[in-house]
Amino acid sequence: MSKIEVVPNQLTIGAEIKGLDLTRPLSDNDFNSIYQALLQYKVIYFRDQKITTDQHIDFSKKFGELEINPFRPQGEGKPELQIIKNDKNNPVLSTDVWHSDLTFREKPTKFTILRCIEIPEQGGDTLWSDMCAAYEGLSESIRNFISELEAIHDFKNFRVLYRGTAQKREELHKMEDMFPNPSHPVIITHPETLQRVLFVNRQFTVRIKGMSDDESRKVLEMLYEQASVPEYQFRLKWHPGTIAIWDNRLCQHYAVNDYYPKLRHMERVAILGDSVPYFDPQAKANIECPSINRVHAVEGLH
Ligand code: SIN
Repeated sequence: MSKIEVVPNQLTIGAEIKGLDLTRPLSDNDFNSIYQALLQYKVIYFRDQKITTDQHIDFSKKFGELEINPFRPQGEGKPELQIIKNDKNNPVLSTDVWHSDLTFREKPTKFTILRCIEIPEQGGDTLWSDMCAAYEGLSESIRNFISELEAIHDFKNFRVLYRGTAQKREELHKMEDMFPNPSHPVIITHPETLQRVLFVNRQFTVRIKGMSDDESRKVLEMLYEQASVPEYQFRLKWHPGTIAIWDNRLCQHYAVNDYYPKLRHMERVAILGDSVPYFDPQAKANIECPSINRVHAVEGLH
């Protein structure tokens, strides 16, 4: 019998997992409970975990093959470890934009496991937004309109890293060859829960196929805004030893950039995507995403 307790924060997103010490071996039973909670609540977190970097990496391996991030500083001798360390000399690079990780890959990141090493007393929270609830919150007319659309993705915000020299431009061309802009359906079917998910994000989506630039920009803006709806969000206050895991296929995230010039230091391990995003209009979800009824007392008030 698993002794772990799953304590949800919001109706559809965010749950704390209590009763687990990640310095100890994890039983299959506990792993299955964590995995189910992750699929159901999209983001789960653990408090006060005194694990080392190597234990963080080993724990992450249970979720799949580790991903090497092409644009983030890596741990010494540990390419699968990404160091997110921001302070006066190294301000944030583009984590303060709503996004799902690495959707410019043909198979975007599956899960991300982020651990807090050091954080200012105030600030530096992360927000996640439930893209399944966001889909459910759209009107039927808009859902029908976007159901067959595809959007092109690019590592656009990281292009600034390759400015200046001929050698940098050369490196940029290599990156472009490695990540030729994939197109993903605007609505995807989650490959495990079969839920429908709104899958465009401000950081990496560039345009909708088959539309003029102007049309695409306006449609995308309306869809991007869904991540900013507070009713779909979960916000985590970090402490050293907090670890969060999110399902990148179901949610977007935003690291709040309100602590400069103080130090915020995180270590991150991600799980390589194992499927090309697809949309199956016949699929029936096996986990219910309760719809959030943003009902107003007076119709037409807003
Ligand atoms: C990220 O965008 O993956 C980083 C999130 C964070 O630092 O809170």
